Amino acid sequence: MYRSHTNGELRIENVNSEVTLCGWVQKSRDLGAMTFVDLRDRYGITQLIFYKDPKSITLEHSRHIANFDEWSNNKELFESVKNLGREDVIQAKGKVIERESINNNIGTGKIEIVVTELTILNKSKTPPFTIEDETDGGEELRMQYRYLDLRRNPLQNNLKLRHRLSIEIRKYLDSINFFEIETPYLIKSTPEGARDFVVPSRMNPNQFYALPQSPQTFKQLLMVSGYDRYYQIVRCFRDEDLRADRQPEFTQIDCEMAFVDQEDVLNTFEGMMDYLFKKVKGIEVKAFPRMDYAFAMEQYGSDKPDIRFGMTFNYINEVAQNKGFQIFDDAEAVIAIVAEDCSTYTRKELDKLVDFVKRPQVGAKGMIYVKYNEDGSFKSSVDKFYSQEDLKAWADKCNAKAGDLILVLSGDKTETQNQMNVLRLHLGDELGLRNPNEYAPLWVYDMPLFEWDEDSKRYHSVHHPFTSPKEEDMNLLESDLGKVRSNSYDMVINGTEIGGGSIRIHDKEVQATMFKYLGFTKEEAQAQFGFLMNAFEYGAPPHGGIALGFDRLCALFGGQETIRDFIAFPKNNSGRDVMIDSPSPISLEQLDELNILIKPTTKFVE
Ligand code: AMO
Repeated sequence: MYRSHTNGELRIENVNSEVTLCGWVQKSRDLGAMTFVDLRDRYGITQLIFYKDPKSITLEHSRHIANFDEWSNNKELFESVKNLGREDVIQAKGKVIERESINNNIGTGKIEIVVTELTILNKSKTPPFTIEDETDGGEELRMQYRYLDLRRNPLQNNLKLRHRLSIEIRKYLDSINFFEIETPYLIKSTPEGARDFVVPSRMNPNQFYALPQSPQTFKQLLMVSGYDRYYQIVRCFRDEDLRADRQPEFTQIDCEMAFVDQEDVLNTFEGMMDYLFKKVKGIEVKAFPRMDYAFAMEQYGSDKPDIRFGMTFNYINEVAQNKGFQIFDDAEAVIAIVAEDCSTYTRKELDKLVDFVKRPQVGAKGMIYVKYNEDGSFKSSVDKFYSQEDLKAWADKCNAKAGDLILVLSGDKTETQNQMNVLRLHLGDELGLRNPNEYAPLWVYDMPLFEWDEDSKRYHSVHHPFTSPKEEDMNLLESDLGKVRSNSYDMVINGTEIGGGSIRIHDKEVQATMFKYLGFTKEEAQAQFGFLMNAFEYGAPPHGGIALGFDRLCALFGGQETIRDFIAFPKNNSGRDVMIDSPSPISLEQLDELNILIKPTTKFVE
């Protein structure tokens, strides 16, 4: 038996027990007559004491030590302690005693172990950074030694949360009759917006598998097969540009249901989220508000609004135009937001906001402000063009009160909405309105079915080609594709898209027509998706589903925006795993075997 207890387990009730513990040396403190060692494993830290000289044993402790004589000769033990280094793996046998100086920060803080036997199971080199909550290691170094970084509490807590969530998700879905079914990883390319990662086939020269961007078509086929409630916590692969909330391989909670309408899907997954919030975070969330896409864009300039705070958009064209201020007069939209109680912003603070919106990433040409002073007067950056009455009319239009600050952007409507969205979120951060411990979920639905792509000069699916158009917009399919709305929905929490789904097309003809609108020839559609359309000819039930980003959900529950530290072995921003050094060149023989064409500049493994 290596250990009788873990390092997070022993309590005051265990005093006098003989125990054996294993773990890593977090740190040791040599106090001359005795040495303290903090022993760590994933359950916690237990303090070990090694006495050099029996005379130094306090009366309090000596009462606990049974075989005093035998133990007092233990010089060897003390010598071996001296050689202990950080992160050495040891086994320590000893007796649990009550601790003199209690540490209330840890569960084991009331006890310590007087060690009688020490075995060094494995020595450790000095780690390249400290294995503590606040480490001195830089990002790149920690990624390179990920296995050491994973020893740290913050990461262990993240992975614990991930585990807990996956267990609770499975429990919930199992309780309402969902089957977990695995679908293949070696599939064929499906156009879902991102590029595919491809895998050459040795046995089929010059042919490639693609790794799934999602199991979309397979879960639809499972509906045809009659498994009317499917789910899978599944890895997906997308060769796209990386961001804080995007990894090239990530995990979805992928679900599909047959004989359902949109309401059924929303209610089922709202139910799941309620359950998870309650079980994992111990909080009750209110019913999810539902907002159609057009409203979200109009009020927040975003299809994933953060509704933890207000500051919604006010369109003030009516009161701001035709007063001689050319920039507003020429604008399609003049949009104002109100920062409550911010009329005291200094010139410097306002200039900083102007600089912020003018950055190329935001792209505004400028920003107008109006201070609604406490005394009821107004001070604006356009006083030359607007009287106090004019500015009062702006304030009334925006429901601003004395003490507030009004910020205005103008120009092309869509561009201005986008810019204002960024400014709103920035102000929300600045004013502390985006508390990571507060959760504001909602559904956004009725997204457009198609979007125009300037590069390829054709329409693309906003969600994917299997999403059904809204019945009432079918007549627009021939006349105005850009206006057709879809039966789709996103789950948004705190400004992050946690999941998205739709009610699917289940009719072969409708699916074929959709491919036509997306610019596929009949032959292309048949070659790529013939299997799905053929299946639709054998009794496909009406169906719909959703996929939630599992890594994003974990980060959200952990109160963070970056998903990387909720994944055990993630990729860095360039899509590299710096620990195993991948991707990497492969040998000429391997390439040859795979029939891969070789450019003269290609590097090979020697
Ligand atoms: P969608 O493409 O919206 O839908 O993906 C669903 C959810 O997956 C998460 N997600 C990601 N998470 C981390 N890194 C990424 N690169 C990444 N890409 C997406 C997001 C997103 O909301 N087959 C459809 C679902 C369906 O229609 O049922 C799909 O994949 O949280």
